[in-house]
Amino acid sequence: MSALPARVRLVEVGARDGLQNEKAIVPTATKIELIDRLSATGLASIEATSFVSPKWVPQLADAAEVYAGIARRPGVSYPVLVPNEQGYARARAVGVSEIAVFGAASEAFSRKNINASIEESLARFAPVLDVARADGVKVRGYVSTVLGCPYQGEVPLDDVVRVAQRLFELGCYEISLGDTIGVGTPGKARAMLRAVAQHVPITALAVHFHDTYGQALANVLACLEEGVAVVDASVAGTGGCPYAKGASGNVASEDVVYLLQGLGIETGIDLPALVATGRWLAAQLGRETGSKVGRALG
Ligand code: HMG
Ligand code: MG
Repeated sequence: MSALPARVRLVEVGARDGLQNEKAIVPTATKIELIDRLSATGLASIEATSFVSPKWVPQLADAAEVYAGIARRPGVSYPVLVPNEQGYARARAVGVSEIAVFGAASEAFSRKNINASIEESLARFAPVLDVARADGVKVRGYVSTVLGCPYQGEVPLDDVVRVAQRLFELGCYEISLGDTIGVGTPGKARAMLRAVAQHVPITALAVHFHDTYGQALANVLACLEEGVAVVDASVAGTGGCPYAKGASGNVASEDVVYLLQGLGIETGIDLPALVATGRWLAAQLGRETGSKVGRALG
């Protein structure tokens, strides 16, 4: 266990991971308003959308309109998901300056999610990273199914380490380790992070927990104790991957910020403003916020 970090950067994924699994199409104007509201809370990283195939994720077919419509604040990064060169070209056409490529530690999940084996996906990402580097575009890398796979079950730690290391070597500045279906528990999360941190610097690692079994916040704490200082979360606890059966929402951003504040860790985020945004989003989606802090403080 190392000392807790003094400061944590939250990567807000609500506008992407949060919305991608919504059945009813959310109006483009609502997505833009969500991102603009999030921009006013002090967040430094706000994932905006995905330039994936609209046939695969119809909810985010308006990626270009959303990105073009948001008021980008200086000092805030708005990464977007990109699965291939076609997605990169679409993203660049609207001027993105940060992207995220997404792979998986499980072969079965990789095929279901991006229709490619792990090797094929890495071969697909390599030219994207090359052009991104030449364009001065930052690239984040996701590894999904780090603590379990809906199709394969157990995922060997070696596979997680290998994919994380390959993405880092390809040039991703940060690797986000995703518990896609939220099956992890703190001991396993800690062991997984330790294994990856032997090959990728801890300063280049982020954690991404879904809360299917109510373990996400405990997992975040375990990883903070290992020294991780970047946490992905979704306002109002929205989220889930359409290609991960049984996946529920991400850990709620409000709950993570409350935890961090309680631990005396700096985030730069205005919690009441974040809570208000989460409650506004929940109202737009026609349900109660998935954030416990959002319910308590609202
Ligand atoms: P494919 O069908 O194998 O692709 O899909 P293809 O290259 O054969 O192309 C098929 C069609 O899609 C063609 O159109 C292409 O033009 C089009 P057609 O000729 O049939 O009219 N196409 C595209 N259109 C727009 N933008 C593009 C694009 N690429 C192809 N970029 C592909 C392969 C990767 C495209 C597809 O599988 C895909 O889009 N998958 C995305 C799935 C996804 O978004 N999943 C959720 C995100 S991952 C996640 O949530 C996990 C994470 O949160 C971390 C965690 O929790 O673990 C990140
Ligand atoms: Mg996710």
